[in-house]
Order: sequence, then structure tokens, then C-alpha cells
Amino acid sequence: MKMLAAPATVLALWAVSAQAATNDDIAKRLEPVGQVCVQGQECKGMEVAASAGGGGGAKTPDEVIAKHCNACHGTGLLGAPKIGDAAAWKDRADHQGGLDGLLAKAITGLNSMPPKGTCADCSDDELKGAIQKMSGLK
Ligand code: HEC
Repeated sequence: MKMLAAPATVLALWAVSAQAATNDDIAKRLEPVGQVCVQGQECKGMEVAASAGGGGGAKTPDEVIAKHCNACHGTGLLGAPKIGDAAAWKDRADHQGGLDGLLAKAITGLNSMPPKGTCADCSDDELKGAIQKMSGLK
């Protein structure tokens, strides 16, 4: 019975992310992420997302993480490697052939990890920046 709860959470997160197409939606999109955060212990980067204005230009790693990755990687939801858990990330990097291997998996998705971590409009560089920041890998 416990298994049922996790996929439902993923679907909810996914659906919420997919909906958000405009900057106006960002505030709405952050609400459910914020709730996940409150339930977890740490919530790095949320204040950055709250203050980040809209507009074009490259997304910073903090923005990408706060809006897309933190929901799972902040708490280790569904077995995601936690932000700042350098050992867990290094272990994965060793298996995938380094940072670029992790990036490739992040783009295609891996089991419960959704393609591009739900950041459909993230460039490869933006995803890479977020992975570097979460993992501490260079
Ligand atoms: C819906 C939850 C969820 C979200 C959102 C999410 N991830 Fe993940 N991520 C996971 C899970 C779960 C794993 C572990 C997958 C496994 O090993 O089976 C994972 C693993 C990874 C890995 C390691 C892949 C490997 O080869 O071991 C990278 C890199 C990664 N995520 C990057 C990101 C980035 C970047 C974002 C934000 C843009 C993000 N993730 C958003 C759940 C998520």
C-alpha cells in the first residue's frame, strides 16, 4: 500500500510543472513545491526562486534547482540523490562516466527521475549547472 503514494506524488509534481507555461504561472507552480519543502528538512534555494523576476535569459542553477529539482532532490524523494550529498552523487558519476554521463541521464530520465527533471525548457547547460550545484561535481 505504501508504494501507491509515491507515484501519485510524482504525477502531481509532473502535472504541475507541465502546466506552467508563463511567468505568471511560476508563483502557482511554486506552491506545491513549497509544500513538499515544508515537509522535508531543508529548503535551499526557495528564497532565490521567490525573488527571481521573470524575463528571458539563462536560468541560474539556483533557479532551476528551486523550481524543478528541489521537489525531489531536496528531500531524497523516491530515492533521488540529495542536494549536497557529494558521496551519493560521486558514486553515480563514477557509474555514468562523470558529469556528462549524469547530464545525459538527466535529459532522458531514469526510472522515477522525469526527463529533464521536469524543466522542459531548460537547455543542456542549464541542466548541467543545476547538476553541478546539487552534486558539487566539477
Ligand atoms: C519527480 C522527482 C524528481 C525531480 C523533479 C528531479 N529528479 Fe533527478 N532524480 C530523481 C530520482 C528518483 C533519481 C534516481 C533515479 C534512479 O537512480 O533510479 C534522480 C536522479 C538524478 C540524477 C542522477 C542520474 C544518474 O545517472 O544516476 C541526476 C543527474 C538528476 N536526477 C538531475 C536532476 C535535475 C537536474 C533535476 C531538475 C532540473 C531533477 N533531477 C529533478 C527524481 C527527480
